Amino acid sequence: MSEKVLVVDDEKIILDLTSMILRSRGYHVLTAQGAQEGLQIIARENPAVVLLDYMMPVMDGMTALRRIRQEFPDTYVIMFTGKGSEEIAVELMKAGASDYVLKPFNNQDLVDRIDNVLRLRRIELHNRELEEERIRLLQEIERWNRELERRVEEKTQALEKAHAEIVQAEKLATLGHLAGGMAHEIRNPLNSISLFAQILKSGVGEEGERLIYAEKILKEVDRIDDILIQLLATSKRPRFELQQVSIDRVIDRVLGSFEGQVKAQNVTVRRHFERIPPPIMADALEIEQIFSNLFVNSLYAMADGGELNIFLAHDEKEVRIAVSDTGGGISRENLGKVFEPFFTTKAKGTGFGLSVVLRIVRTYKGSIRVESEPGEGTTFHIRLPLD
Ligand SMILES: Nc1ncnc2c1ncn2[C@@H]1O[C@H](COP(=O)(O)OP(=O)(O)OP(=O)(O)O)[C@@H](O)[C@H]1O
Ligand SMILES: [Mg+2]
Repeated sequence: MSEKVLVVDDEKIILDLTSMILRSRGYHVLTAQGAQEGLQIIARENPAVVLLDYMMPVMDGMTALRRIRQEFPDTYVIMFTGKGSEEIAVELMKAGASDYVLKPFNNQDLVDRIDNVLRLRRIELHNRELEEERIRLLQEIERWNRELERRVEEKTQALEKAHAEIVQAEKLATLGHLAGGMAHEIRNPLNSISLFAQILKSGVGEEGERLIYAEKILKEVDRIDDILIQLLATSKRPRFELQQVSIDRVIDRVLGSFEGQVKAQNVTVRRHFERIPPPIMADALEIEQIFSNLFVNSLYAMADGGELNIFLAHDEKEVRIAVSDTGGGISRENLGKVFEPFFTTKAKGTGFGLSVVLRIVRTYKGSIRVESEPGEGTTFHIRLPLD
């Protein structure tokens, strides 16, 4: 397939002569008798090379050259100029001509120059394709890099989360061990203190400061004992016997035990038992503990009244429970810490309640998460698998 060469010259004789020479050498030759016509042919035929006369009326060669280079960068231009105009030739080369031929020209020289320019053009176009391919590949690599970075980031986050959960679980296990042992050890001497305080109390008669002190000692001893009982609850006791536990009944039972406090604090309780789940195999006391710890917290948060909403539903795979209150909520910075053992914002809190809930929920391979809006309330969502 021969390449198209367009000859643009206002002199008919030159056009005829050049086309004859070039055709005889096998080029596909197009001709135009002026720059305007030339530009139209270029737009239509897309020739590889244009032989363009510098001296033309209407649109001069320099203007035509500039327009061709700008509008058709794939079309290369060789200029015809008259002898003695070498400075002009320099200008033409600067304006984008690939070569120039002095008129009158030598046939072989003309053909050689056209061949040279065609060769140069092929190489340059090929280079450009390679460059475009290179840029495309670089962009592709860049895209892949970003994708890889995204995936690595995702995996890192997942790992960090898993790690944090393991640390949490280990903390809980250690705490359980420690707490169990300590609580046991402390309760014995505490019993003695309590016993002797009672003896002292019975010996001091009905009135006086001593009686008040003795009663204070007994009250504080009771408080320590309460804390120890909670500590014992966090320690991993061997599960009692597993039995069929109906979660709805457990909820109602625990709610019943809070009846007095609920009334006194002017709290409205709403049960939303959408679907009663089938009984699960569990230790009833542990399931009770989940709800009593959550209710204690909710009621504490609603000292001036509010609403306690309890949702219960299930599908074939799991039981879904939500305990929601309209109390003061949990600040954003504390939200991530509430399940940590010892984390508390209460002057007399121990920070065990939720860590115990978390441990129990984990024991049954469930999950728990908290949602809270400060000033609006708090919701705990629990999922327990149905096996
Ligand atoms: N329903 C709730 N509303 C607002 N804050 C809550 C709620 N539940 C838990 N919290 C926050 O989470 C903290 C930890 O709760 P958690 O039950 O573990 O310990 P605690 O209630 O402080 O002490 P303990 O339960 O041992 O008496 C609480 O101190 C409180 O700041
Ligand atoms: Mg609590």
